[in-house]
Amino acid sequence: MFKVHAIAPHRMPELLQAMPKAELHIHIEGSLEPEMIFALAQRNGVQLPYANVQALRAAYAFSNLQSFLDLYYAGASVLLHEQDFYDMAWAYFERAKSDGIVRAELFFDPQTHTARGVAMGAVMEGLSRACADAHSRLGISADLILCFLRHLSEEDALETLEEALPWREHFIGVGLDSSEVGHPPEKFARAFSRARALGLHVVAHAGEEGPPAYVWRALDVLKVERIDHGVQSIHDAALMQRLVDTQMPLTVCPLSNLKLCVFKQLSDHNLGQMLDAGVRATINSDDPAYFGGYLLENYLQTFAALQLGAPQAYRLAANSLEASFASEDDKHRWMHELKLVFERFAEHD
Ligand code: HPA
Ligand code: ZN
Repeated sequence: MFKVHAIAPHRMPELLQAMPKAELHIHIEGSLEPEMIFALAQRNGVQLPYANVQALRAAYAFSNLQSFLDLYYAGASVLLHEQDFYDMAWAYFERAKSDGIVRAELFFDPQTHTARGVAMGAVMEGLSRACADAHSRLGISADLILCFLRHLSEEDALETLEEALPWREHFIGVGLDSSEVGHPPEKFARAFSRARALGLHVVAHAGEEGPPAYVWRALDVLKVERIDHGVQSIHDAALMQRLVDTQMPLTVCPLSNLKLCVFKQLSDHNLGQMLDAGVRATINSDDPAYFGGYLLENYLQTFAALQLGAPQAYRLAANSLEASFASEDDKHRWMHELKLVFERFAEHD
């Protein structure tokens, strides 16, 4: 076991930035900043129902997941061409670099775009070109995870998966997002079975607003490799035991949970309890342009609100790297770098 030394509180922000981290739960359409939404609307001749950037930003006051999703899909309507998808993802990667991210697994929602007449190829090629450039120009390892919209039918999901297969080498897995309550995981049993047969990784949002039963079914029916959010699991002791015993990763998004009123205050968040219980939790940004912070900001605010320290920082960064779908070689290299960062901070303390 690697020994984590105490680090002075005033040096924690610097440590949280410097430690190599993976971001495993970011919807790339949720990284569209209001400024870029307006710039793309102008470039593409799309009319927006907001007068300006300030008016749009002022609308970012959410009461639950659905109130956010309505705006999120409206914002994505400015994306039409391959270059738009590239520009959106590239802007995210530049932010990711400054936050100390070495690995990013980007969710994208093809149905949001193909339903508007955007070609699947424009989405796939724009995003995958940005991932390739993130690697060659920024040293960030990046891959794509195709998400099915759970408010749509399973037939639609199956058709979307087939439609994406000409670009099979451009994505590593499938996920499940959008309105959770009323759209349980088992609705997508066949789509996930097909994805697994294709050798794709499988993850799903579960237990964000939905009950622990949805987490059970994501595990047992969809056979997911990670649970996205999963914070409602804490209300089911047997489920918590299962998560700990199997070391199932949870991609937790603290600022998202705060903005969507899953927790009243950040200090009420259960991430600290999850870590104490031995759950393999990670910190992620979800939809950073809408929720008030990219990955580092999520770490900074969560550490301040829950009074977390160096041991939790090490665990969260290690969890994120180990739970990623990167190669074992890459994971070993980043884990080595992570230990060097902690040793460097300990020596100077
Ligand atoms: N939950 C469900 N669907 C989503 C989210 C989320 O947090 N962000 C973007 N789509
Ligand atoms: Zn999400």
